[in-house]
Amino acid sequence: MNVLIIGSGAREHTIAWKLSQSEYCDQVFVAPGNAGTTMFGTDACVDIHNFEEVAKFATDFNIMMLVVGQENSLVEGIHDYFQETEYLRHILVIGPKKAGAMLEGSKDFCKSFLQNYNIPTARYKTFTEETYREAVEYLRSHNYPVVLKADGLAAGKGVIISPDYEHALDALEDMLRNNRFGKAGTKVVIEEFLQGIEVSVFILTDGKEYVLLPEAKDYKRIGEGDAGLNTGGMGAVSPVPFADDVFMQKVKDRVIAPTLQGMQQEGLDYSGFLFIGLMSVNGEPYVIEYNVRLGDPETEAILPRIKSDLFELFKALHDHTLADYKLEIDPRTAATVFLVSGGYPEGYEKGKEISGLDTVSNDVLIFHAGTKMLNDKLVNNGGRVIAVTALADTMDEALDKANAAAESITWQDRYYRKDIGFDLRA
Ligand code: AMP
Ligand code: GLY
Repeated sequence: MNVLIIGSGAREHTIAWKLSQSEYCDQVFVAPGNAGTTMFGTDACVDIHNFEEVAKFATDFNIMMLVVGQENSLVEGIHDYFQETEYLRHILVIGPKKAGAMLEGSKDFCKSFLQNYNIPTARYKTFTEETYREAVEYLRSHNYPVVLKADGLAAGKGVIISPDYEHALDALEDMLRNNRFGKAGTKVVIEEFLQGIEVSVFILTDGKEYVLLPEAKDYKRIGEGDAGLNTGGMGAVSPVPFADDVFMQKVKDRVIAPTLQGMQQEGLDYSGFLFIGLMSVNGEPYVIEYNVRLGDPETEAILPRIKSDLFELFKALHDHTLADYKLEIDPRTAATVFLVSGGYPEGYEKGKEISGLDTVSNDVLIFHAGTKMLNDKLVNNGGRVIAVTALADTMDEALDKANAAAESITWQDRYYRKDIGFDLRA
């Protein structure tokens, strides 16, 4: 069978790498892909926002499965399009339809879903420009810090944590009156700040049954010690020691079970990954957000720990046999370190030649994100450039191996955090 993966990051490279190991997969295509995805598949030169183009490619290349890596295409309704188009209907799509994708596409929808199904989450209220004055009043009487969130997709940048009232007022004005996040910010969720430690939990679900995947912790800030600006993710570790059996049982009972029940009651007809961003507050799980896809860089840490055939798992999703599926997981720790362009997440230069990939030891996995070939040379072509993943019996060993690999891959001004996992190390 031929598979088409939608996306161009290290997450999609990892999915391509994993699917290409399946005996059921013939050709793996990645659209638009990057310089690395050509190693396990073929980059498909299509505009992923133009569904007709994607459909033409799928037909021309006899695609039987479409794996949607990133949220935008899901929120734009790529699954609905394939479902509604007669000659595409036989293609198995991994990723929810538009209605289900709203769990990520609208923070307001997500929060009211959480509230309606009694799933633990921070207390909140949603405001628009019409209710600006009420928002100001709400902020006046709120405890600080407070969290303001743009309702729509904002590429991970739509969350502002305000330390005091003045700051929050500025943020509110920026969002509701100055259009800081464009259409995504016409509604703002204001919510209570949760103090705790975060963990990313993943399931694959058909809306009724599910398989729990390995969990991971990601490191979003650019600077060591979790300082500085938010990024797309600077590294990840899986498993997460504090997400032990007791914690995960609470997650299953208080979060996953009511989430699936809610999906059914709302008629969301979900099928795909669900990424549950949790805060552990004194050992109690609270949902920060849902994402309707795998995480990046979490994918680079969790897929290498899955021993089972990913294609088979996707088949089980479509055959509605996930409840009986026994996922085989590697008990070792996976550590992922992301190499980024100097200056990221602000301005950075592209087109610098990358060297040292050939010196990395064979048992370290390399996943590309912002890379491309320029005159036969591999160059950086984005903020996050290459993720390296190492597996080992202990977290310390895995991190040491990943850091050593990261050190040996270079280009002008490349940067990486040397302290991934710092808060998990014993
Ligand atoms: P999100 O875009 O919802 O993933 O939020 C981005 C990040 O903001 C999260 O990963 C958290 O680190 C932080 N965050 C979001 N909501 C809260 C909250 N209620 N309390 C504390 N931190 C939060
Ligand atoms: N690692 C967080 C995300 O993928 O949104």
